[in-house]
Amino acid sequence: MNIQKITQSKLSNIKLESLAFGETFSDHMLVCYYKDGKWGTPSVEPYGPISVFPSLKAIHYGQSIFEGMKAFKDQDKNVFLYRPEMNFKRMNDSAKRMAMPEVPAEVFLDGLKALVDLDSAWIPETPGASLYLRPFMFASESAIRAASSSEYIFMIICSPVNTYYDQPLKVKIADKFSRSASGGVGSAKVAGNYAASFLPTIEVSKEGFDQIIWTDSSTHTFLEEAGTMNVFARIGDTLFTPCLSDRILHGITRDSVIQIAKSKSIEVIEQDITVETIVNAHKDGSLKEVFGCGTAVVVSQFSSIGYKDQLLTLPVLQAEESYAVQIKKWLQDIQYNRAEDPFGWRVAVK
Ligand code: PLP
Ligand code: COI
Repeated sequence: MNIQKITQSKLSNIKLESLAFGETFSDHMLVCYYKDGKWGTPSVEPYGPISVFPSLKAIHYGQSIFEGMKAFKDQDKNVFLYRPEMNFKRMNDSAKRMAMPEVPAEVFLDGLKALVDLDSAWIPETPGASLYLRPFMFASESAIRAASSSEYIFMIICSPVNTYYDQPLKVKIADKFSRSASGGVGSAKVAGNYAASFLPTIEVSKEGFDQIIWTDSSTHTFLEEAGTMNVFARIGDTLFTPCLSDRILHGITRDSVIQIAKSKSIEVIEQDITVETIVNAHKDGSLKEVFGCGTAVVVSQFSSIGYKDQLLTLPVLQAEESYAVQIKKWLQDIQYNRAEDPFGWRVAVK
């Protein structure tokens, strides 16, 4: 790996505790080029603009994928990544679906560690804060024939972040737009999935909602995801979450929530959840909580759910009664090295 360090850090001019999500980037970035059927040597260099041609295939055909993960600092300033092998695997699953080359572990995992180690001063230490890591790959061949690119650029950039949402969210169940369809790219972390979600999200925001609950594209009767989160509903004392499919992103936080909940003797059932089940459970009082989870948001409670003309207001639970609050705490205790890690999820960065 080539390492070219900055001469003067930008950090002294920045207040890490008051940054908006994803608008400030650390001193360095990782870059690696794929050409002639192979990856070159990755290099860590000062964060800055890259030069590309207007005929870049990623711009014209959207061959572009990414990951989202975080680095955490504990009280003694030890630095940890959280389940990085899962992001590495998902990045390469996305690459396969998008006819892009897989990224080698020496580039993705060793590159992440080298970059995070170098920019570890950028990991905020305030509660709930972390360094958000964004590995991504895009088609860089300069040609506009509509076919898979022969050249790619893999990069990692880092952004110090605070809590994503401060308040419980008002969400609206989609009955017109869809995020993904069977046979499509919903389970891949493809840039275009997010582009397609912006208009529907803007539309619900005009009605006062923060996010959309995506439903299946054919009938709009099954819950799938919520904004950029996987979704859980607590009915009685059981947690339900939709089964994974090629329409749903296989969230690492989702998997963590399931494993943590089960380890604390909370029953978790992965099964298709209909909108009708949610409406009926709300009516009979058994719908206690609905929440989303993802790397950026961790676990985020919903305060109400809009469905057509109805607004289902969810009960306000005491913190110690709420699965969402408890699971978020257990998860963050592992991430910030405040508790034992029985699952072996923390990976120390030296
Ligand atoms: N679903 C979507 C569409 C997402 O963008 C994300 C965020 O990454 C998630 C779910 C949650 O995935 P993870 O927990 O791996 O961050
Ligand atoms: C994440 O949770 O990491 C995401 O990918 C959400 C992001 C689009 C902000």
